[in-house]
Amino acid sequence: MPNKKVIAVLGATGAQGGGLVRAIMKDPSGEFTARAVTRNPNSDKAKALAALGAEVVEGNVDDEASLRRAFAGAHGAYCVTFFWDHFSPEKERAEAAAMASAAKATSVPHVIWSTLEDTRKWVPLSDSRMPTLNGRYKVPHFDSKGEANAEFTKAGVPTTFLHTSFYWDNLIHFGMGPRKGPDGKLVFALPMGQKKLPGIAAEDIGRCAYGVFKRGSEFIGKSIGIAGEHPTGEQMAAALGRALGQPVGYYAMPFDQYRKLGFPGAEDLGNMFQFKHDFESDFCGARSVEFSRSLNPALQNFNQWLDVNKDRIPVN
Ligand SMILES: NC(=O)c1ccc[n+]([C@@H]2O[C@H](COP(=O)([O-])OP(=O)(O)OC[C@H]3O[C@@H](n4cnc5c(N)ncnc54)[C@H](OP(=O)(O)O)[C@@H]3O)[C@@H](O)[C@H]2O)c1
Repeated sequence: MPNKKVIAVLGATGAQGGGLVRAIMKDPSGEFTARAVTRNPNSDKAKALAALGAEVVEGNVDDEASLRRAFAGAHGAYCVTFFWDHFSPEKERAEAAAMASAAKATSVPHVIWSTLEDTRKWVPLSDSRMPTLNGRYKVPHFDSKGEANAEFTKAGVPTTFLHTSFYWDNLIHFGMGPRKGPDGKLVFALPMGQKKLPGIAAEDIGRCAYGVFKRGSEFIGKSIGIAGEHPTGEQMAAALGRALGQPVGYYAMPFDQYRKLGFPGAEDLGNMFQFKHDFESDFCGARSVEFSRSLNPALQNFNQWLDVNKDRIPVN
């Protein structure tokens, strides 16, 4: 594809990057083509991207030289880290630093960095409303991404800072869907009280990122946020009930109870939900649905996502 501008996509076989590769390749009249970066070009997921016409190259975010090769000659790069693969904020920051350094070395004209808020700007470590984790974080997987923004700025990389939202796909893959209570009735537990939780279909993140690249340099140097809808837990439970054809109750789980659930990352996520709850107005305000739809006209709301995905949500 000689005249197309290349977008190098990290995490291409995953949720965010996969959505971007598909958005680019399913728009053959567009000005871009995708270079999918993966550790294993021979995997079925990588082959599926190649079948769409994407270039597939090997790269590892822990190996900056491989990132330089992956970014060489690209017009754009989509940079995302994989916190839940290692649970280490320090590793996440090092990976972001390697991405920024590789983008600088290869003079990529436009990077989208998939980031999140550094919650310590709202909840300093001295604030006892939630525990401090790993000695220097409130929400490690948010704080490290927010802190890593500086890696891109410091390196002088032309960057759009993209703030994503809670994937509704977590109800399928992350065990966050409704569960049967002792009386056999389904309950959707979420530590959000009566506050709104901005959410998005994971596939729509990449489509919004594609919209950012299509708008040229408009958002370089800016922070933007995306969501498909801002439903409350109560509204999500009602929508789940309609989609699943049986009543789903809402349980506003206390933050402390969630933090003590015992699975890896429970404290981090408990603090995350408390942050989103306590700073609802700032968090929702940074993620306009209307703006997201302007980037991605196919943006789904929760009901639309449920219509397509309800049968994939485990309910037992
Ligand atoms: N779940 C949510 O609600 C949510 C919301 C907002 C933000 N996030 C953030 O999203 C990030 C994860 O993005 P995602 O959900 O798109 O990831 P994902 O679906 O888990 O996919 C990650 C992909 O990245 C690749 N990968 C993993 N380690 C790699 C490495 N060392 N080098 C190169 N590629 C590697 C893997 O591909 P290969 O095996 O093919 O290399 C994998 O397919 C996390 O940092 C999380 O905090 C999540």
